[in-house]
Amino acid sequence: MKGSTIMDGRSVVLHVLAVAAVVLVLVWCVHFRGGLALQSTNKALIFNVHPVLMITGPIVLAGEAILCYRSLPMAATMSRDARKKAHLSLHAAGLAVGVVGVYAVFKFHVESGIPNLYSLHSWLGIATVSLYAIQWLAGFLAFFFPGAPPAARRAAVPWHALIGLLVFVLAVATAQLGFLEKLTFLQAPPLRLPKYGPEALLVNFTAVVVLLLGVAVVLATVTVDSTRYNTII
Ligand code: HEM
Ligand code: HEM
Repeated sequence: MKGSTIMDGRSVVLHVLAVAAVVLVLVWCVHFRGGLALQSTNKALIFNVHPVLMITGPIVLAGEAILCYRSLPMAATMSRDARKKAHLSLHAAGLAVGVVGVYAVFKFHVESGIPNLYSLHSWLGIATVSLYAIQWLAGFLAFFFPGAPPAARRAAVPWHALIGLLVFVLAVATAQLGFLEKLTFLQAPPLRLPKYGPEALLVNFTAVVVLLLGVAVVLATVTVDSTRYNTII
């Protein structure tokens, strides 16, 4: 698969999943949860910024960044350098959006008197954002500016790709926990959201779309080596 571009049905499915994830999380937070605000007396609106930005940044923009070596519309004709700049810029945007998303949820907690960092979701969330920032910095220094010597770049790139994909998978897993946690809060007293109501179905469905997007990005990126099992069978 390496070296080929995925301008086929797989690429269409991938981008449809990416757009659907953002649209669904927006419908949830705006239509069902009352909207988004970074400053409001209604603290729930500050929380709502969090899921929208976490899906848009470290998942959808990061997914597009990972894929742009293979799936940009003009990928076949684009220069390596242009693709590299698209990759690092999309990741910078994904990271920036993610940082604002985490800021929003801390602001919501502080202004509502809720303790910080008590859940598995929040621990994995901090790990995700920290590793994403380190990965970006390491990639920038090694492959862009000042750039490592060619031999070191060649040695580093498979590790960069593997660790980058693991950080992306961690973001998808963290988002799954986030959806589950928020829906569980909404279904508990005092709100007691109906277990099979439209909002519950929408949240679970959005999480499934995010999961499928994660699977599609991984499948488009990994190279299956069929010779690896020759000695086993
Ligand atoms: C890459 C994705 C995500 C990351 C990195 C992330 C990160 C975080 C972090 C660091 C916190 C802790 C804030 C604090 O302690 O003050 C948090 C809280 C929270 N997040 Fe996320 N989040 C992500 C996606 C989501 C999604 C999609 C939802 C869905 C609603 C969500 C729901 C929540 C909830 C309910 C809290 C408050 C409760 C808690 O601290 O566990 N998160 N998130
Ligand atoms: C958090 C940020 C980043 C993540 C998660 C990430 C992730 C990845 C992944 C998964 C791949 C493999 C893509 C494929 O196999 O098609 C890759 C390739 C690559 N990345 Fe990054 N990356 C990040 C930042 C950067 C930065 C800042 C640079 C600086 C220029 C960079 C340069 C590269 C290069 C040169 C490749 C090799 C592409 C190839 O020859 O196929 N990355 N990255």
